[in-house]
Amino acid sequence: MVKSNSRIRVGVLISGGGTNLQAIIDRSAAGELDAEVVCVISNRADAFGLQRARKHGIDALHLDYRSHSGRQEYDTALAEYLKSFNVDLVVLAGFMRIVTPVLLEAFPNRVMNIHPALLPSFPGLDAQKQALDYGAKISGCTVHFVDAGTDTGPIILQSAVPVLEDDTVETLSARIHIEEHRLYPAAIQLFAEGRLTVEGRKVRIS
Ligand code: GRF
Repeated sequence: MVKSNSRIRVGVLISGGGTNLQAIIDRSAAGELDAEVVCVISNRADAFGLQRARKHGIDALHLDYRSHSGRQEYDTALAEYLKSFNVDLVVLAGFMRIVTPVLLEAFPNRVMNIHPALLPSFPGLDAQKQALDYGAKISGCTVHFVDAGTDTGPIILQSAVPVLEDDTVETLSARIHIEEHRLYPAAIQLFAEGRLTVEGRKVRIS
């Protein structure tokens, strides 16, 4: 249960550039979020998001999958690290690994993901390309709680953007990214305010 008048502690998992991480850090630093990023973990050593975190004095760790004997062992290490920071919420922001029940059971209904499409359309990899190839006229982004499936968990917030005639993966991704940077902090703030309740496969916002 999130206490009122206190900032929740957020651990962010990344694999790449970390523009969503930056958006969350910036909103938090501006005092617009009742949340602070206390640690960042990447499965890739060269993820630029690690540098973003360190620049803000946030503990940033490269956790190499190859130094663990399997998915469960990797997620056990992830969970232990996150627990050592007393994390209230785990935020996947471009984390390119499937998480196992080991992590989900350590943080029940406390792991969020952002996906660059309007789920349940276009789950999995290359969602923007999937939308373009399908000829969708609208796409967008979805913040959802993570469950054992791939991009199947209860939906928290969504935002739509148009798909334009001459869009490329790059131009559509850029338009979606702008929405992501607004949507993810909004979902985290709802969580911080204790306003999200998972009921079956739905999320009730109070
Ligand atoms: C975003 O498009 C997000 O939807 C997807 O991975 C991308 C991460 O981008 N899960 P960034 O690293 O936050 O810039």
